[in-house]
Amino acid sequence: MNSRLPQRYADRASVNTIREVFDYIRRYKGKTFVLKIEDTLIGHPLFPLLMKDIVQLHDIGIHLIIVTGTRATIEKHLTKAKINTRVVNGIRITPKSAMPHVKLAAMEVVQTVISHLSADNASGIMGNWIRARSLGVREGLDYQYTGYVEKIQSSIVHKLLGQNFIPVIYNIGMNATGNCYNLNSDKIARQICLDLDIEKLFFIRAQDAIPTSGLELPPGSQVHPNGKIYSNMDLDHVDFMLKQNKESLSFENLALLTYAKTVIDQPKGVNRVHIIDGRREGRLLQEVFSSIGGGTLIYGNQYAHIRQATLEDIPEILHLLDGNIKKGNMIIRTASDIKDKINAYHIYAVDHAVYGCGALYELGQGWAEIGAVAVNDAYKSKGIGRGLVQYIIQAAQKKHIKTLFLLTTQAADWFFEFGFVWANPSELPQSRREGYNPERNSRVLLLKL
Ligand SMILES: CC(C)(COP(=O)(O)OP(=O)(O)OC[C@H]1O[C@@H](n2cnc3c(N)ncnc32)[C@H](O)[C@@H]1OP(=O)(O)O)[C@@H](O)C(=O)NCCC(=O)NCCS
Repeated sequence: MNSRLPQRYADRASVNTIREVFDYIRRYKGKTFVLKIEDTLIGHPLFPLLMKDIVQLHDIGIHLIIVTGTRATIEKHLTKAKINTRVVNGIRITPKSAMPHVKLAAMEVVQTVISHLSADNASGIMGNWIRARSLGVREGLDYQYTGYVEKIQSSIVHKLLGQNFIPVIYNIGMNATGNCYNLNSDKIARQICLDLDIEKLFFIRAQDAIPTSGLELPPGSQVHPNGKIYSNMDLDHVDFMLKQNKESLSFENLALLTYAKTVIDQPKGVNRVHIIDGRREGRLLQEVFSSIGGGTLIYGNQYAHIRQATLEDIPEILHLLDGNIKKGNMIIRTASDIKDKINAYHIYAVDHAVYGCGALYELGQGWAEIGAVAVNDAYKSKGIGRGLVQYIIQAAQKKHIKTLFLLTTQAADWFFEFGFVWANPSELPQSRREGYNPERNSRVLLLKL
C-alpha cells in the first residue's frame, strides 16, 4: 500500500456532520435570513472569507438580505471634514452639514459589500426601500436629520429576492416628500424582520458574542464550551440579563438584546437571532449548520404562549379545526364535543387570537390520545405545531401516561419526528379499537413514554 496516498475514508463523526448539514440545508432552503454586517469588519483580513461564506448560503438557496452598519465609516468621513456631532444614548444627532458625509459613507460601505459579492459571483443590489421619518425633537433635543424607520417597502425587496438578488440595505431612508434621514442600521434590520417573513436575523460584528464574564447569569444559562460567551438564551434569560446586568452590559449588547427580544416576541417576528463575531473564521457557517454554533443564539420561548383552553376559546378552536375538517384531515368535532372535553385542549394563543391547538384525551390504564392538532395557515412552519405537541407529550408524562397514540391520515411523517412509530389498530385500547373507522383507514402511531 502506498502510504503517501491520502486516506479516502471519512469517519463516522464526519458522516454525521455531513448529514446534519444536509438536514439544515433542507430546512433553510427558500427561507430568508437578514445579515446585519458592521463596517468595522471590512478591513479585517478574514472579511473576504466571511463574504464567501455568505455567498455559499445564497448558492444553496437561502434568500439573504444584507444590512450594512456604517457607524465607523461615518465617523471617518466626519473627522476628515472636521464636523463634530453629538451622540446621545447611542443616537447620533445629524446636522444638515453632516448629511452629505453620511451618504458618502453609506455608499462606500455598500459598494465594498457589493463588489465582494460580485467577486464571488453573486448579485448584490442596493436601493432605497425604507420609508423614514424625522426623529424630531425629543425631551427638548432636536435630532435634526436623524430619523427612524417607518416601514420597509417589502414588496420590492420580496420581488428582488425572487429574482435571486441579494438586496443590500443601507442606513439612509426617505420620507414621503423625499427628505433623507440618517438611520440606525440595527433598527433597520429589526424592522425588516417585522415587515417580511424572516427565518433568522444575524448581527455580525467585530467583537465577541454576548460575554459571560462580569455578568450575573440566570439559572440554567447555557455557556459556550470555551466558557467565555453565552451560547443560548431564551426570552426569559434575555429578560433576566436586561434586568440584572443593566449596568454591566455594554451599551451595544444591551441594545442588541433589546432588539432581539422585540423582534422575537411578535407573532410574525423571527424565531432566532444570532450574534456572532465576524473576525472568527467560519462562525457564520457554524451558526447556520450546527446545533452548537459559535455565537450567542437568542430564541423564543416555545411554551410562553401555550395554555389550557377555556370555554371562551371554543369559537376560535372550531374555526381552526373547521378548515381541516373540510379538507378531510380531521374528524368532525362540534362545539359541544369540545365543551365536553375542554380540559383536554391546549392552545397556542397570542393575546386573544388562537394560532394553534391540540388535545390530550386520557383513556385510563396508562393510555392517552393526541388529537385535534392544527395550526392556523398564516402561522405554519414557525414551530407552533412542534411546540404544542412537545408540550402535550410533557403534560402526558406528568400525568404518568405510559402510551400515547394518535390517528392521522395526512401527518404521520410529521409525528415521526417526535418518536412516534407505526402501529396496528388492533394494538389500541378496546374502547378506541371499537371506534376505529376502517373506511377512514387512518394510520395509527404510538409513542411509549
Ligand atoms: C401538522 C401541523 C399541525 C404542523 O404545524 P406547524 O406549526 O406548521 O409545524 P412546525 O412549524 O412545528 O413544523 C413545520 C414543519 O413540519 C412540516 N410539516 C407540516 N405538515 C406536515 C405533514 N403533514 N407531514 C410532514 N411534514 C409536515 C413542514 O413542512 C415544516 O417543515 P420545515 O420546518 O422543514 O419547513 C400543521 O401543518 C397543520 O395544522 N396541519 C393540518 C392539520 C393536521 O394534519 N393535523 C395533524 C393531525 S391531528
